[in-house]
Amino acid sequence: MQGLIADIDLLEEEKKQPESCEFKTTEDDGSKALKKLYIESYGCQMNFSDSEIVTSILKKEGFGTTSSPEHADVILINTCSIREKAEQTVRNRLNFFNGVKKKNREVTVGVLGCMAERLKSKLLEEEKIVDLVLGPDAYRDLPKLVKKAEEGEKGINTFLSREETYADISPVRLNSNGVTAFISIMRGCDNMCSFCVVPFTRGRERSRDPHSIVKEATELFEKGFREVTLLGQNVDSYKWSAVENNKARLNKKDDVDEIVNFAHLLEMVAKINPDLRVRFSTSHPKDITDEVLHTMKKYENICNYIHLPAQSGNSRVLELMNRTYSREWYINRVDAIRDILGNECGISSDMIAGFCTETEDEHRDTLSLMDYVKYDFSYMFFYSERPGTLAEKKYEDDIPLEVKKRRLQEIIDKQREVSLERNQLDIGKTFKVLVEGRSKRSENKAQGRNSANKVVIFEGDIPKGTYVNVRITDCTPATLFGELV
Ligand code: SAH
Ligand code: SF4
Ligand code: F3S
Repeated sequence: MQGLIADIDLLEEEKKQPESCEFKTTEDDGSKALKKLYIESYGCQMNFSDSEIVTSILKKEGFGTTSSPEHADVILINTCSIREKAEQTVRNRLNFFNGVKKKNREVTVGVLGCMAERLKSKLLEEEKIVDLVLGPDAYRDLPKLVKKAEEGEKGINTFLSREETYADISPVRLNSNGVTAFISIMRGCDNMCSFCVVPFTRGRERSRDPHSIVKEATELFEKGFREVTLLGQNVDSYKWSAVENNKARLNKKDDVDEIVNFAHLLEMVAKINPDLRVRFSTSHPKDITDEVLHTMKKYENICNYIHLPAQSGNSRVLELMNRTYSREWYINRVDAIRDILGNECGISSDMIAGFCTETEDEHRDTLSLMDYVKYDFSYMFFYSERPGTLAEKKYEDDIPLEVKKRRLQEIIDKQREVSLERNQLDIGKTFKVLVEGRSKRSENKAQGRNSANKVVIFEGDIPKGTYVNVRITDCTPATLFGELV
């Protein structure tokens, strides 16, 4: 997920290759299982993480995994609804699977995730090849619905739960480098950003039992993993109570509930082992607390990096977006990060260009915010109206596509400029780097990341999972280059 990711790049890519959007598939697990599962996943880390849960559920039913849809008995596509283009990609893939199905009538095709939740039974009607539709909270129902589908009956479950966190399911790691892994700590979202479908596709926010999170992280460490990223749409509102979750009762007068907030959770995971790095995403500017920043400072293994999506640098637009903070509030949070954690702490953002009624001046406020914060990198998009959202109901999507694209290009150019500026500050410094493997560009170089989440490439035959010190000698806007010290 590192680097400059933007709609424009993907649009260019897509012209060449219709399915080239960022996605992940299952690998061949080499098992002799009689039935094979193929999953393709789109969207955010949470979706990739859910596919690992789904794989675990079907493995228990005797499924092996395959990297080729042609060899699969069950094809699942875990989908994203965040922008229109994401849904279009899925429809293209369903067409492709239709071809597979024509050759192999026995195969079951299922749609999972956010698009399943948004479109529900429409998917069964519109896309005739689809046999199963399961929303994000319904995956425990998969074995039952797969069996029914094999008997020729279409199945659907898009029930959204207030409790489901899949806490007891141990995910099967897919596309794993064996060093870094993601752990879902909560599901859903209770915010109502006016542009966003997530509250509708993922339901109410709920936090997972912290002890199951610590257990999962401990097991990963024991297997050789050295970094975990705690995932949630808004990690700062993580809150778990033993009493509320029926894990404890207050019997005597002096009994107290065990209440765990995000800062406590971070500390619990950080204490597993100093060699286990801890990251998290996403922080919401309205909720990130100084307590979290102080906890980050206290533990060397909690990485110095915060993904703090601004979306816009203008207070009026932020209000229309229903982000519930202003430009000044956002800047205050950035100042707190710099005060407590220092200038080296990495900060990244998500930006939306051309939201409803955004003026040129308001767009320039986004550019000036980027100049102020000097983000290390950003995910940048132009606004895509989503059915059912507050913005779709209340505002007109009135910025012409060319204007959206031009503003997005200006945001991308600004990000390049500030990324390079930030990276140049690192030249001459030495960082502790966790090696993740070989460099994709050159085999004789190793690649890892520093605490601030920057990709560092250097010469040396260092096994993955090792910590090394690297002195930075050169950089591009996206990468640092260095030498072992
Ligand atoms: N929970 C995270 C964001 C999850 S969605 C947060 O609050 O920051 C990831 C990003 O997709 C958002 O930050 C936003 O920048 C972008 N996004 C969401 N809906 C969008 C839309 N309708 N059009 C364009 N970009 C959108
Ligand atoms: Fe969407 Fe806002 Fe929730 Fe993020 S915080 S998932 S942008 S509604
Ligand atoms: Fe997409 Fe759903 Fe994630 S809409 S971004 S897959 S929560």
